[in-house]
Amino acid sequence: MSFDPKRLAHPKVLSLHPYQPGKPIAECQREFGLSEVIKLASNENPLGTSRHVTHHLQKQFNELARYPDGNGFDLKQALSRHLNISSSHFILGNGSEDVLRMLIQTFVWGGQHIMISEYAFVAYKILAQGLGIDCREIPAKQFSVDFDTMLHAVTNETRMVIIANPNNPTGTYVNEEALQSFLEKLPSEILVVCDEAYYEYIVEKDYPQTLSLMARFPNLIVTRTFSKAYGLAGLRVGYGIAGEGIVELVNRIRKPFNVNHLGQVAATLALGDQLFVQDSIALNETGKKQLYKGFDKLGLRYIPSFANFVMVEINLPEKDIYQELLKCGVIIRPLAPYHLAHYYRITIGTEQENAKCLAALEKVLLKENVV
Ligand SMILES: Cc1ncc(COP(=O)(O)O)c(C=O)c1O
Repeated sequence: MSFDPKRLAHPKVLSLHPYQPGKPIAECQREFGLSEVIKLASNENPLGTSRHVTHHLQKQFNELARYPDGNGFDLKQALSRHLNISSSHFILGNGSEDVLRMLIQTFVWGGQHIMISEYAFVAYKILAQGLGIDCREIPAKQFSVDFDTMLHAVTNETRMVIIANPNNPTGTYVNEEALQSFLEKLPSEILVVCDEAYYEYIVEKDYPQTLSLMARFPNLIVTRTFSKAYGLAGLRVGYGIAGEGIVELVNRIRKPFNVNHLGQVAATLALGDQLFVQDSIALNETGKKQLYKGFDKLGLRYIPSFANFVMVEINLPEKDIYQELLKCGVIIRPLAPYHLAHYYRITIGTEQENAKCLAALEKVLLKENVV
């Protein structure tokens, strides 16, 4: 009899498609024989990493033989000073995705499910289903969270709602009033996780002050990351902020050395260079305007973004825009996995990267007689 592992696998795993990360630059260079390739596909920081971090990190190389601090003492102290919150409120993760996974694993079980919005960051569904947990997707309203529909869809089995704010890939955000009203109406035994991976980039005055809201809503949890504005995606450091009771429970399942030593030190150093973060935000704002202007010129519709990427509509069904741009040495992200067939997510890069991307788009569209 033939051995078929699929017969043994968890049904929720069987229905999963693996997460598709942005294509690496080296892969594109190999496949298309190109030397100059830019990657605007993973919402990384186009400025790279703060020099303050890279300079001081080198001193840590003699520590590599040792296990990391399993409690992340220094990093939690630095976060505590930075956010003015006691260090007992932090959960450290191997990227914020690790924190999200631990939260689901700790609190959602049996026949319970998590609830997300349509077009929410695709990893939530993969994380939940990978843990054998159902993920209910609630239709979005104008590409953003529809809280009313969510409230109607809540059942006794709803244990957690995850909201990406701003959301990837749409770039939309929910404001304080909408979030607060949702929290007021939602039963308090349902946890609400606000994934603020792009927190540093949003400057809107009505963006929710979630750390203040946590005092009123003990079921509210916030996750943030060092992968974006802090330029440390490769080292995988993220964190959660929650009530001490929640933190204590999550720590029971946390792998003892989930954040490596270099990551902990780099994140601590990165918090000490807020000028780098300010420069990253400023570059993002000018780059966003540059891309908007270019899209307008090309007659392309886009969703105004509050993060470090823009979702743009390119409706050329007979053409694989993603592949065409790869040939020009530009890696972007097609949004077919979000059922957004004619949409693409473009990370805001440096001025030169944005210009190269717009020029490549123009070339492809001109070939198709679209502009
Ligand atoms: C909305 C959102 N949340 C979480 C993450 C995961 O970030 P990390 O695990 O690198 O902290 C991402 C990454 O792109 C994201 O877009």
